[in-house]
Amino acid sequence: MSNIVIISGSPSTLSRSSAISAFLESILIKEGNQVSTITVRNLPPEDLIYANFNSPAIQQAKLLVEQAEAVIIVSPVYKASYPGVLKTFLDLLPEKSLEGKIVFPVATGGTYAHLLSLEYSFKPLFSVLGARESVESVYMVDSQLTYSGQEITFVDSEIEQRLKSAIGQLLERLQRKELQEIR
Ligand SMILES: Cc1cc2nc3c(=O)[nH]c(=O)nc-3n(C[C@H](O)[C@H](O)[C@H](O)COP(=O)(O)O)c2cc1C
Repeated sequence: MSNIVIISGSPSTLSRSSAISAFLESILIKEGNQVSTITVRNLPPEDLIYANFNSPAIQQAKLLVEQAEAVIIVSPVYKASYPGVLKTFLDLLPEKSLEGKIVFPVATGGTYAHLLSLEYSFKPLFSVLGARESVESVYMVDSQLTYSGQEITFVDSEIEQRLKSAIGQLLERLQRKELQEIR
């Protein structure tokens, strides 16, 4: 059993990336893992905007990240980059918060034109936070899936397969790490 945290980065209450987060969470729980989801829009807005490092809600979210062996970040693309609300939360994490953790970035966008925002925008940010080990990221466009609340319907079954395969890789890597630590 591994301890995994999902950070859901959309400011929208009706959110495609939240539905994807719930989908990934249910797969991971079925596989027997301990999973927590931090939905950044549910953190106190004033704490995020005024960078209140001492906020109990922020401290609690920080602890979840600290204790996790893997971090999955699911976010929409905003203006060819990550949404500001996701950055306000990541800004409150200590510098090397993702060090030693396996990171899996998932991004949703309206267009394929911004596929490379994962490489030029998201990944450099995760790297500053110490991320060195990652599972191949998944980028998808809105037309590839529909959602109602937390229920997802994959219009493009390849996306479902890519997400499941990435989760498989993540769990394999976690298992390998655990075995190495025991030896
Ligand atoms: C303010 C805003 C900016 C956006 N900027 C981009 C963009 O630059 N590139 C892109 O591909 N999609 C962009 N989109 C579309 C979203 O990334 C896309 O619809 C995403 O799936 C929304 O995810 P969510 O429902 O979890 O918020 C933007 C959407 C909004 C609301």
